[in-house]
Amino acid sequence: MCPALAKFGIDKLDDMLGGGLDRDTVNLVVGRNGVGKTILASQWAAEGVREGENVAYILTTMSENSCKSYLGNFSFMKDCYDKIDWIFLDIDVRDLLPLTKENFNRVFSSLFRGKLDDVDRLVFDSVTSVEKAFADPVLYRRALKFFSDLCYDSDVTALIVEEAPLYGEFGEAKALSECVIHLDILRVPNGYARAMRLIKKYRTGHPLDWIPYEITDDGIVLKEGRYVRVSYEFHYESG
Ligand SMILES: Nc1ncnc2c1ncn2[C@@H]1O[C@H](COP(=O)(O)OP(=O)(O)O)[C@@H](O)[C@H]1O
Ligand SMILES: [Mg+2]
Repeated sequence: MCPALAKFGIDKLDDMLGGGLDRDTVNLVVGRNGVGKTILASQWAAEGVREGENVAYILTTMSENSCKSYLGNFSFMKDCYDKIDWIFLDIDVRDLLPLTKENFNRVFSSLFRGKLDDVDRLVFDSVTSVEKAFADPVLYRRALKFFSDLCYDSDVTALIVEEAPLYGEFGEAKALSECVIHLDILRVPNGYARAMRLIKKYRTGHPLDWIPYEITDDGIVLKEGRYVRVSYEFHYESG
């Protein structure tokens, strides 16, 4: 039996989420390249292992070797890395076409050797690769919908990672996610600062502030205070 909420193991973030991500829902981490999405998602995966859950992590952006030498070296991965079912996926949309629910479920389930029902936590990093592979917004939206239906049907708690464009709206994944965590690099008076905010979380009242964080060998560490927007800049306030 999994704990009621799927925690990140990052106290301040878990508090902001009302305890963690809700079970059997699809959730999203979104942000530009290099902000820390993969590190955050892998912290959530490692926390699942520590809770005794079955954890699978689909990676489209990294090879097995670079994954192990990159994510395997963070302190939070100690004793967890080898217990995660890492799936290195090279998407070929021809396998999925015609894009019917049956086709999608067949291809996707085969990644888990048919055992998706046994998975408790699943990370999909990143769905932007799927978007690029389809190069068609209607097909991409449809694939996301099939993915989310399959997660709900299989009682899987999913965290998907999506690359945000430099300018303009995020992609489609936000619409079907129950929780959206946005990571960004803010322009502040003396340079730049990493900060995250919750854009939405169903069933939970949550802060809207930008919370500063840093990335260390221990992963993402949330800091004190918050950033508030003042004209075009974000100013720091303590407490
Ligand atoms: N061991 C580390 N210590 C400090 N910062 C790190 C470390 N490893 C990676 N980073 C920072 O994390 C960034 C990449 O984070 P990642 O989660 O891979 O980004 P993305 O959002 O593209 O998935 C790097 O650009 C670097 O700034
Ligand atoms: Mg990444």
